[in-house]
Amino acid sequence: MKRTLIKDLKEHLNKEVLLQGWIEELRNLSKIKFLILRDRTGNMQTIALKAETDADSFSLIDSLTKESVVEIMGTPKENKTSHWGIEVLIKKLVVISKSATPLPVDNTDKSQTHIEKRIDHRFLDTRNLKVQAIFKIRSKIARIITCFFDENGFTNINTPKLTTIGVESGAELFIVDYFGKPAYLAQSPQIYKQMFVAGGFERVYEIAPVFRAEKSHTVRHLTEFTGVDFEMGFINDHHEVMDLIESMFFDLVRNLEKEAAVELELLGVVKHTLPSKIPRLTMEEAKKLLLAKGKKYAADEDLDPEGEKLISEIVKERYKSEFVFITLFPWAVKPFYQMKDEKNKKVTKSFDLLLNGVEICSGSQREHRLEVWRQQAKEKSLDPEAMKEYMELFQYGMPPHGGAGFGLDRITQRLLGLDNIREAVLLPRDPERLRP
Ligand code: 4AD
Ligand code: MG
Repeated sequence: MKRTLIKDLKEHLNKEVLLQGWIEELRNLSKIKFLILRDRTGNMQTIALKAETDADSFSLIDSLTKESVVEIMGTPKENKTSHWGIEVLIKKLVVISKSATPLPVDNTDKSQTHIEKRIDHRFLDTRNLKVQAIFKIRSKIARIITCFFDENGFTNINTPKLTTIGVESGAELFIVDYFGKPAYLAQSPQIYKQMFVAGGFERVYEIAPVFRAEKSHTVRHLTEFTGVDFEMGFINDHHEVMDLIESMFFDLVRNLEKEAAVELELLGVVKHTLPSKIPRLTMEEAKKLLLAKGKKYAADEDLDPEGEKLISEIVKERYKSEFVFITLFPWAVKPFYQMKDEKNKKVTKSFDLLLNGVEICSGSQREHRLEVWRQQAKEKSLDPEAMKEYMELFQYGMPPHGGAGFGLDRITQRLLGLDNIREAVLLPRDPERLRP
């Protein structure tokens, strides 16, 4: 007999079905036993009755444990008083894999277990369908973004994660022993995505792990995260990159509401309201608005988390937008490969996208003129000759180009309004955690 999924039970009323799944709840009374069964599509009340259930199966239920895997032959019947509207009358029950007791972690909806302990036993935690919903949504986010890039002429590439240089200022590198020589774990695919713009693809993207050796203990930083990076050639300026990101996020939010409606409802996620256009404030304008609220920054300073939060609140009030682009960052706080603004060389043609107070994306136009690129490397005390393969990209015909990067983890966290980025990562890595 073929397996029926719990979500399809209503189509099989009064017909015998085979169910397989985990036992979520058990209640044993003398003549009736209630058993809530769960599969990947939902949960369902099943009942065993002394008079109707096979005698061996009926007595077997007494020794059953929560989270055991079982197979049930039974018949779905209408039951208006049950929360599902139906229930399954058990004819026969077979135990496939018995769970030990007690469980090391409480994975019920009532659980108050700390995220760290839940991650220690993550596979038990994700059996909770609300937890699973986060990852089903994350999976859909990745697919919607992938479709968007594909539809816009981008090629999906894979680049090495074992490398020899890092170019993101401020992001530290993990050193690996590579047969006796030092190598690094990639802190971004920056060089490689530019390489394949130069390689004639013009538009490339990658969704892959990014490693940052930062001892940050925050709810939005990890040492390993999933980066979504793209790069596009033949652009006029950084605004063109922002235009693309804007349509990408609008496409994402709209499609997610349709395609993940069930999961979003299960999690009680509040809908995001989209403005007709995401406001774009220069860093200078942002700092003026912040000054009016009593927060002062030096000219070449970056915003701190508090400033990012405050500017988002101001924008939300003024422009009714949860999203805001901050543009033209000080050269002092951005990596050397960004193009400086022609009118003001103290800033770069860069931007960050904030969603409700948190940076979710950074990007810029890149410097593609060899001489200027060399000069900028030196200004940041980097030796261009030590980055031979990077420098070569600008020697044999490189179009003006730009791109951006964001974290799949951070986006999932922020779109779902989760307190901690760890909720959006199956097995997070941070300075304290390398397991499981
Ligand atoms: O701002 P970042 O460091 O920019 C880059 O890596 C550039 N190569 C992007 C570009 O194309 N110009 O990182 C980009 C994004 C951040 O906005 C954030 O969403 C995420 O990556 N991110 C992190 N997520 C989790 N943990 C961390 N430690 C993160 N660092 C950055
Ligand atoms: Mg950034």
